[in-house]
Amino acid sequence: MKTRMKTPEELKETVRRKYSEISEQDKNYNARSCCGAGGDSTKVYNIMTDDYSELEGYNSDADLGLGCGLPTQFAHIQKGDYVIDLGSGAGNDCFVARHETGPEGKVLGIDFTESMIRKARENADKLGYNNVEFRFGDIEQMPVSDNVADVVVSNCVLNLVPNKPNVFSEIFRVLKPGGHFSISDIVLEGDLPDALREDAEMYAGCVAGAIQKDEYLSYIRESGFENITIQKEKPITLPEDILSQYLNEAEIAEFNEGGAGIFSITVFAQKKSERLEKDKKKPFTVIAGNDSASCDPESGCC
Ligand SMILES: C[S@@+](CC[C@H](N)C(=O)[O-])C[C@H]1O[C@@H](n2cnc3c(N)ncnc32)[C@H](O)[C@@H]1O
Repeated sequence: MKTRMKTPEELKETVRRKYSEISEQDKNYNARSCCGAGGDSTKVYNIMTDDYSELEGYNSDADLGLGCGLPTQFAHIQKGDYVIDLGSGAGNDCFVARHETGPEGKVLGIDFTESMIRKARENADKLGYNNVEFRFGDIEQMPVSDNVADVVVSNCVLNLVPNKPNVFSEIFRVLKPGGHFSISDIVLEGDLPDALREDAEMYAGCVAGAIQKDEYLSYIRESGFENITIQKEKPITLPEDILSQYLNEAEIAEFNEGGAGIFSITVFAQKKSERLEKDKKKPFTVIAGNDSASCDPESGCC
């Protein structure tokens, strides 16, 4: 029997409940599973997380092993910038961003899981930062005024949001003209098997809520952004011992041969400003990652 589709509010409640649990889990467990939720692999490698520990500003108490990229590395953050991190968890990317903005900038993390906000505030207090703030809120309706941010970052969060176009419109609203975002997220190419797509753990685990890469990029374009660029792309392989919790042997073989791919991407885009329009120039060069070819989706190569 097919399960009933969850409403957007029910999906959000599932995510919030799961990330409340995850905020108390061990980092090593989170890094072995999908965004800390679906499955737990016996394999030694990390499924999604990139290594943060070498980044300046890194704080191990804030690293719960939940990211799928290093958006701050690609975000062109300048001293004095106002940076907003969407779905900030325990503050991992915020503290790295704070290193870039310096004390003269400001970093705001937004999250809708209370225990994550609590953890992030404790971490900021321990570090003695008075320009890093954590605000409770839903990124589909950000508790932020228009045109305030220089840079928006986010790490492995938009896949969890039922209405992704709402988030991109909100990012457009809160960015200053000429401001930009660098977002790491999970996207798909090809279809996931139903058993993965319909599973609540896999939804909270950053897999089932992921959408097709083309659709993701089209939402960014339709929100009014320009200079849309994939800065890094990396295939994610779900280990067989995780897949076998959802699929039988024949289904795993079919999935592996079906060509469906799960990818971590870091994508950049910019809010138009009249000055940029007048100068007709791109202010940033594209930094390509090592793990795959990167390209500008507007060039037609993606
Ligand atoms: C996979 S974790 C990533 C946390 C953090 N970015 C990191 O890399 O450590 C996803 C986070 O997004 C938050 N989240 C999910 N949907 C959200 C929404 N609609 N509004 C605000 N926060 C949300 C969750 O509470 C959780 O803390």
